[in-house]
Amino acid sequence: MVKVSLKENVYWVGAVDWNLRDFHGYVINRGTSYNAYLIQDEKTALIDTVKSNFVNDLIYNVEELTSFDKIDYIIVNHVEMDHSSGLPQIAKLAVNAKIYASVRGKDELIKHYGKDFERVETVKSGDSIKLGKRTITFLEAPMLHWPDSMFTYIVEDKILMPNDAFGQHLATSKHFDDEVEESVIMEEAAMYYANILMPLAPLIIRKINEVVAMKLPIDMIAPSHGIIWRKDPMKIVNAYMNWSSGVAVKDKVTIVFDTMWNSTDRMAKEVANGIISQGTEVKILKLRSYAASEAVTEILTSKAVLVGSPTLNNGMFPTLSQFLTYISGLKPKGKLWGFFGSYGWGGGAVRGMTEMAKAAGFDVFEVGCEVRFVPDKEDMKKCFEFGQKIAQKIKA
Ligand code: FEO
Repeated sequence: MVKVSLKENVYWVGAVDWNLRDFHGYVINRGTSYNAYLIQDEKTALIDTVKSNFVNDLIYNVEELTSFDKIDYIIVNHVEMDHSSGLPQIAKLAVNAKIYASVRGKDELIKHYGKDFERVETVKSGDSIKLGKRTITFLEAPMLHWPDSMFTYIVEDKILMPNDAFGQHLATSKHFDDEVEESVIMEEAAMYYANILMPLAPLIIRKINEVVAMKLPIDMIAPSHGIIWRKDPMKIVNAYMNWSSGVAVKDKVTIVFDTMWNSTDRMAKEVANGIISQGTEVKILKLRSYAASEAVTEILTSKAVLVGSPTLNNGMFPTLSQFLTYISGLKPKGKLWGFFGSYGWGGGAVRGMTEMAKAAGFDVFEVGCEVRFVPDKEDMKKCFEFGQKIAQKIKA
């Protein structure tokens, strides 16, 4: 094993998942990692475990540093299975370890892995455990990402281990922000935020303000996915504040569409031209070429979202239905939504998409743009003007 040391006697002992491209339904482009950490002091603590099919990596990494019977504490910051499904096997090996989780965490561990986990001891915000020279303390962070979630903070080393928060789905052979190209890290951090944490924006703002008010000195942020922030931990904290508060939103429109015989494709391009004519940036993503998770990442920094669909059997194309279901759950705030599409006889796609968006509580630009069969010159003019009006509306 190549030892990965955060500070003296604080080690990364997790696993890198190079080949994962589907993270519980959303597409990721660069794999991920399941970060677990070992702190060796008079007492030894393991912070989090890994996904069960990577548990041998964790076992190997820990045994290079110590034996499992020397582990005194296992801290479970979050029960979702990418971090805890290796725990039953680790708990059997670490025969002397006490296991700690939040109150909700204990309940969820029992529901996932059975009565063996009734022995879990619970902690709440402000509780701490002395390891020797070091103290670890806990801060509950409900809904970042689940009700059970909590952060662990190593007081003397000034390392915050916030589990899912501040992570990225990024598999690399390097482990720190100063070792990986910043644009890659931030691209993945944005995609991760948009697809996992976007609906929790108000809670994120509140939690960050709470941590700032505590004046915790932070040298490193060591999340449970991706790289560890040591060069500039505040970079990701500020990015989360900007994404959560809408400060990161630009004069930009994202167009998401699908097409059957290229009519909606041609409409999308002409709507885009209308937007570009107003000096506004446009991103065009055709579903089946781009994943919904990629579209969501663009939407994070967009003022408006335009969605285009052909009509199939009096309704929207299935890829659009799937996309709108996904984005409705992520509840992006403060966007203007518009709809366009083509039809042959009865129509229905634009109407269906508009109804879905209204039901999700989105702000809908009332007049959708529809074309029968193939767009002619007049239709293309209509598409251009539709784009112009959207761009003017978001500028206003
Ligand atoms: Fe990485 Fe909510 O699990």
